Amino acid sequence: MVVVCGAGIYTGREGLSACEVLPKRVYEKVTRLFAEDKGGLDGNDYLIHMRTANRAECAIYIDCMSPVSEADQRLMQIYITNVASAYDSILLNEEIANSQKEVIFTLGEVIETRSKESANHVKRVAEYSFLLANKCGLSEAEADLLRYASPMHDVGKIGIPDSILNKPGKLTDEEFRIMQNHTTMGYDILKGSQRPILQAAAIVAHEHHEKWYGRGYPRGLAGEDIHIYGRIVALADVFDALGSDRCYKAAWPIEKILALVREERGQHFDPALVDIFFDNLDDFLRIKRDIPDA
Ligand SMILES: [Fe+2]
Ligand SMILES: [Fe+2]
Repeated sequence: MVVVCGAGIYTGREGLSACEVLPKRVYEKVTRLFAEDKGGLDGNDYLIHMRTANRAECAIYIDCMSPVSEADQRLMQIYITNVASAYDSILLNEEIANSQKEVIFTLGEVIETRSKESANHVKRVAEYSFLLANKCGLSEAEADLLRYASPMHDVGKIGIPDSILNKPGKLTDEEFRIMQNHTTMGYDILKGSQRPILQAAAIVAHEHHEKWYGRGYPRGLAGEDIHIYGRIVALADVFDALGSDRCYKAAWPIEKILALVREERGQHFDPALVDIFFDNLDDFLRIKRDIPDA
């Protein structure tokens, strides 16, 4: 049992074990309270037990110091009801954020499996993107946002026929044109959401095939007109894809991949990001090693 919040003589005791902080008499009452679920005023100790909608359990203890009037008791009841619902909404928000992250990851994996891409591609792209975001000066919060949004980069492939998605060998011009639609389809799927992660994912889906020199798709954006999220995931995605077998090619050896990244500095990729990539190459290679194709 841990102290979540303390006031008065209990200020600053948060995080400590309740049995260290509370007087023995009170600690025993709290333990009984959890077992029997009967609270209320006992002498000058006011104790109440709560089980939130998320099945977390907590107790509130007020040392009233002097005898408590009826009116004070009612005030405490109102106060405690408010605390309970605030606590519940904190837990609920955490729950929502966690489910959002999980759904996004799972969706990314489903897409990956359908297009028979290597296992763990989206996990590595997430980590490379986070690292690049961090090193290029985005805030920790934004880097985190990109970590959760980047696995969705190919969500639009949901609308691409299997015959094109899994075609061994080179696509015809017409097939390639259809394949390119996965960017706008992904954007259309995600753009309606007000959630920050999904908004970031919409940008990533739309812009991860744009190229720094302006010959990418779907819009042929160039330079900093491409959102930084799109520029980051472009590098992370290509770096990872080249290192794995795909239906249309075998995995490249690392030297060949690094040579391509260097060659495409200022062409396909944002030159500043390529510099960051090589300055932190060991970290990227560590991620590649730590999250292998299962
Ligand atoms: Fe893509
Ligand atoms: Fe990808």
